[in-house]
Amino acid sequence: MPNDFNLVVRNARVATACDTFQSDIGIRDGVIAQMGLSLPRGDEEIDAAGRVVTPGGVDGHCHLDQVIPPPAKMADDFLTGTRSAACGGTTTVIPFAAQQKGESLRAAVEEYHRRADGRATIDYGFHLIVVDPTPEVIATELPQLIKEGYTSFKIYMTYDDLKLNDRQMLEMLAAARKHGAMSLVHAENSECIGWLTESLVSNGLTAPRYHATSRPMLVEREATHRAISFAELVDVPILIVHVSGREAVEQIQWARNRGINILAETCPQYLLLTSDDLGIDVDYHGAKCVCSPPPRDSENQNVIWRGLADGTFTILSSDHAPFSFDDEQGKHPNGEQVAFPYIPNGIPGLETRLPLLYTEGVLEGRISLNRFVELTSTNPAKLYGLHPRKGTIAIGTDADLVIWDEVDTTLTNSMLHHAVDYTPYEGRRVRAWPAYTLSRGQIVWDGKEFRGKAGAGQFLRRGLPTLRC
Ligand code: URP
Ligand code: ZN
Ligand code: ZN
Repeated sequence: MPNDFNLVVRNARVATACDTFQSDIGIRDGVIAQMGLSLPRGDEEIDAAGRVVTPGGVDGHCHLDQVIPPPAKMADDFLTGTRSAACGGTTTVIPFAAQQKGESLRAAVEEYHRRADGRATIDYGFHLIVVDPTPEVIATELPQLIKEGYTSFKIYMTYDDLKLNDRQMLEMLAAARKHGAMSLVHAENSECIGWLTESLVSNGLTAPRYHATSRPMLVEREATHRAISFAELVDVPILIVHVSGREAVEQIQWARNRGINILAETCPQYLLLTSDDLGIDVDYHGAKCVCSPPPRDSENQNVIWRGLADGTFTILSSDHAPFSFDDEQGKHPNGEQVAFPYIPNGIPGLETRLPLLYTEGVLEGRISLNRFVELTSTNPAKLYGLHPRKGTIAIGTDADLVIWDEVDTTLTNSMLHHAVDYTPYEGRRVRAWPAYTLSRGQIVWDGKEFRGKAGAGQFLRRGLPTLRC
């Protein structure tokens, strides 16, 4: 008689966004087939006694192999990026298919499928990045792509090659409303940043740390308020991404109190880094932590922690934007130490997102285990039309699981599986790490080695968002 299951995870302490309970998990053909106590044997067994088991992480914001102006080039492609994600407990990623000016959205989508196909080791979808919202894009391409499962797009209020003007933003939000898509908004005021940058550079203040001076909280607060006003005018929910501190949080809470449907994302860098990590004086190592918005200070970190606990934040993503430090395509463009406006923006974080939040959030008592699951898996799955296939542990759902180990170790880049030559969290103590990660029932990480396969990840045609604030 063949066994009932390909794999049984036995004696698990299962944690979902709402419940924590004891169960075995029987997996057949990549799906959870049965749960309960004393399940029959499987072909393979993992004893999870004494261990927490959560749904695999869903990272709703990461950049992989994204085309950006040379000489910069992202260090991670779909193989190294998804490998790293899996080793840190993430089983679904949603990176970006980024339109170039003058390019059709369809061409961008096809290009990113070529990049991911045969390389992704875990399941993935794509958000669109729309930089050229022509009438054709808005009336024809976008609605068609939304129907095909690209149900969210990011729009930028800053970066010269990416930003939309206010009218274009309104048109994109109106399209989102009409077709039910989710808009992700990068909220920073471009003109203020340009003015401050010019003045800093002309005074010779060009070290990495001035990146933070050029993007103070005010520029994020103003753009957040403007984006909220547009959402109110159009009457459509939006997600403010990578929220960094108090003034943006206040805007979001103000909007919610007025009944405006604003969702919010934050990232580990706003909980764990400060602007001091961008260096002192002319220290170029600070380039490692140049990202936008920049990390703030400890008071702002506390506000972000409170927002995670009190429901202000909907999701926590990595915003993994991978550039190596000692690399002429990375933080040393053409081999140089450059002025801050020329340092590629972004930091790596796909693999460390869950262990750091588990350590600093759950084990330090700042958030519950269930809230951890909600922020990192269930809510992104709902927000991006993947729930219940992804984001929970229940019969009939994909067997994407993390079996957690409580450890006590010092994080070093040599432990990680990305292609970036540093982690901004070097030397931090971590007290939790996946003992196993399962992607559709396959062990992709066993606590020591990556066991996934290039091309095993499936493209996810996503439904419409099923989450409101
Ligand atoms: O600095 C960052 N966050 N780079 C990635 C691009 C973005 O705006 O998310
Ligand atoms: Zn952004
Ligand atoms: Zn980003």
